[in-house]
Amino acid sequence: MGVRGDVSNLADLDRLYATVKQQKGKIDVLFANAGIFENASLGSITGSHFDKIFSVNVKGVLFTVRKALPLFQDGGSIILIASVAGSKGFEGSTVYSATKAAIRSFARSWTVDMKNRKIRVNAISPGVIETPMSAELSEQLKNILVSTVPLGRMGRPDEIAKAIAFLASDDSSYITGIELFVDGGLAQI
Ligand SMILES: NC(=O)c1ccc[n+]([C@@H]2O[C@H](COP(=O)([O-])OP(=O)(O)OC[C@H]3O[C@@H](n4cnc5c(N)ncnc54)[C@H](OP(=O)(O)O)[C@@H]3O)[C@@H](O)[C@H]2O)c1
Repeated sequence: MGVRGDVSNLADLDRLYATVKQQKGKIDVLFANAGIFENASLGSITGSHFDKIFSVNVKGVLFTVRKALPLFQDGGSIILIASVAGSKGFEGSTVYSATKAAIRSFARSWTVDMKNRKIRVNAISPGVIETPMSAELSEQLKNILVSTVPLGRMGRPDEIAKAIAFLASDDSSYITGIELFVDGGLAQI
């Protein structure tokens, strides 16, 4: 089932979780995926660029999780999407990268906050993945990025999905607070 909404709009999140409560009653696994990218070099950053990206990527993720908690099952799994950009410097990526560093920090704080409920919180950090987001990068920039990937190619969405399924399942029952890189080695060397 789909429920349309904007994660940076708290009323939309309330509407989403009211629907989940009504239709399913509880949540076992939460994957907070929504995120946006916009390129801006330091000298061209505006207040609206900052507000827009932090609203979706940081506020949106925080309240997606915060507002799910009343429905959450003890022993569940929360998975956040960070990025290699949170650990590495990329030209024109100041604000986006800072939002993804915040997500990595959320996974650490929430692991502690959720310990009494045995809810595991982990972050996945993709490298360069073939999605509509990366399709907006120029071929030249994609080639430069791929040249820095030890596995020599962009990743596929299904390769991220497998990591998410792992962190969602009991196969990762003793894993919490981590940042799992799925990046072809990009940020590991
Ligand atoms: N692609 C990469 O190389 C890469 C690398 C590292 C991390 N990531 C992260 O992975 C996540 C998914 O990115 P993607 O590559 O799949 O990008 P994408 O193709 O642009 O998809 C982004 C998704 O987020 C949703 N979304 C955006 N703003 C939203 C909002 N305000 N409220 C609700 N939903 C919203 C979009 O929904 P609509 O289509 O309805 O707008 C879309 O489903 C993001 O957090 C991104 O930062 C991506």
